[in-house]
Amino acid sequence: MTDRVVGGAAVDRALPPFAILASGRGSNLAAICSHDDLRAACVGVIVSSHAAAAARRAADVGLPVATVTRADLPSRSDFDAALAAQLGSWGASWVVLAGFMHILGDAVLDAFPRRVVNIHPSLLPAFPGLHPHRQALAAGVSESGCTVHLVVPGAVDGGPIVAQSAVPVVAGDDEESLAARVLAAEHDLYPRTLRALLTTDG
Ligand code: GRF
Repeated sequence: MTDRVVGGAAVDRALPPFAILASGRGSNLAAICSHDDLRAACVGVIVSSHAAAAARRAADVGLPVATVTRADLPSRSDFDAALAAQLGSWGASWVVLAGFMHILGDAVLDAFPRRVVNIHPSLLPAFPGLHPHRQALAAGVSESGCTVHLVVPGAVDGGPIVAQSAVPVVAGDDEESLAARVLAAEHDLYPRTLRALLTTDG
């Protein structure tokens, strides 16, 4: 982004620092970090499973990785506190959920008001929660897609919608084929929506 002029010359201003939280495969993490400006602003990745492939993806692009698992901690509030502490130690000002399979508690949401963003693989408010592709196929819709939204307390997949991208549901689709089509849309939508959010922050 070139948005500031100092001494007559345009200079690039860095995007605000963000951390990514992931639990599994990490393809959205990789899509985000394939953009140099976003990669430069990413201060670290927290994975919530020792088995998460996302950890390898993060290491591959040189990002610090912290593993914070619910099972390793005595309580849910300890888990939230550990997440908040790690985010704080990295100096993150935004939290980017990319396949993070936990509902964030107040310790994180209160520390990052309207600064937590998620991507969900449906056109919200349709098909929140688990198995959105299965839900979409069962409902017989002709299009599905993905939604980037802010995460707010008490509303799973229910925060303010920031951006959406639609894809067709085609004859013969199963969960796998629809998921693959939606995932390609996610990889396009999430990086550019994140950049737009971060660019307009503050
Ligand atoms: C994506 O479909 C995302 O929308 C959902 O979880 C999946 C994560 O995939 N929240 P990946 O780990 O980014 O590959």
